[in-house]
Amino acid sequence: MSQLAQQLGEIKGRFDAALSRAADDAALEALRVAFFGRIGEITLLRRSIGKLPPAERPTAGKIINDTVASMEEQLSAVQAKLESAQFASELGKDIDVTFPSTEPAMGSIHPIRRLTEIISGYFERHGFAVVLGPEVEPDYYNFDALNIPAGHPAREGFDSFWLTDTLLLRPHTSPMQIRTMQQHQPPIAVIVPGKCYRRDAVDARHSYMFHQVEGLLVAHGIHFGHLKAMLTGMCSELFGPESSIRFRPSYFPFTEPSAEVDARCPLCKGRGGSCRMCGGSGWIELGGSGMVHPNVLREMKYDPEVVSGWAFGFGIERMALRRYDVDDIRRFFENDPAFLRQLR
Ligand code: DAH
Repeated sequence: MSQLAQQLGEIKGRFDAALSRAADDAALEALRVAFFGRIGEITLLRRSIGKLPPAERPTAGKIINDTVASMEEQLSAVQAKLESAQFASELGKDIDVTFPSTEPAMGSIHPIRRLTEIISGYFERHGFAVVLGPEVEPDYYNFDALNIPAGHPAREGFDSFWLTDTLLLRPHTSPMQIRTMQQHQPPIAVIVPGKCYRRDAVDARHSYMFHQVEGLLVAHGIHFGHLKAMLTGMCSELFGPESSIRFRPSYFPFTEPSAEVDARCPLCKGRGGSCRMCGGSGWIELGGSGMVHPNVLREMKYDPEVVSGWAFGFGIERMALRRYDVDDIRRFFENDPAFLRQLR
């Protein structure tokens, strides 16, 4: 037993000497192998316990274990010291801590989404509720209830994707006028952004999927002036405080009278000429609007003698092309990060 203690003492002595010379990771690793490896000094000493009388074995094991524990502590202390010294020397050598770091990659709100939020936000501040509707609609909501019965020529204008004889992908957000009026009594004030679908061939100005935002206000005593005021406010939010709007007489089956709405071009201020933003017309087309048709109100069991309302439906991409000065609608759907980053 005393012999084992003596051997252990000698091993420990060699270990301490080697450890004090170890200057890098490789030296530490060699030391580990020499003492704790498969034929390392400690390993061999452990094996020799088997030759001791059985009564002495537990004590021998304990002496070795205690020494090994302190050796391992020494090892990790030296390793930590080496690492921090190495880190400090590399800091001074290769790393310029004053060098600007790379910017973290940030996403951005998609321009279509952002425009939708600006418009919705404007109407919300004026007491409108933002509601969303289904993209698959029965023809009743999309056509019949909007005063477009089967066989009405206006149905052709919508060029819809039909899923069954009676179900279609909505070609406009107007069916949500019907759903809202069915579920609520006037006063009603909603704004409905969402995706729409039409069988359009894709080119710089068209896509089979696009976004609209629908507005609907129904209450007692509503007139066209209210519509004009709200849309003027919306455009000054979108295109700046000097912007203004104009109405052009038009026809939609679900409004009477009906009008197309244009915003004065914010770039040329309506002068047109060779303006690239408005294409020279001086005006930017937003979409359709009008006073809710009495037939629609009656279908909703509202009395047109008591309540009236206005509605509009604008194309978001159309506005986005102008507002962000983009020349091709497809850019909005390709989601090229380089493009989106420019519009951040
Ligand atoms: N839904 C029509 C379309 O997509 C646009 C429209 C016109 C909506 C007049 C309206 C409206 O709410 O009053 O062509």
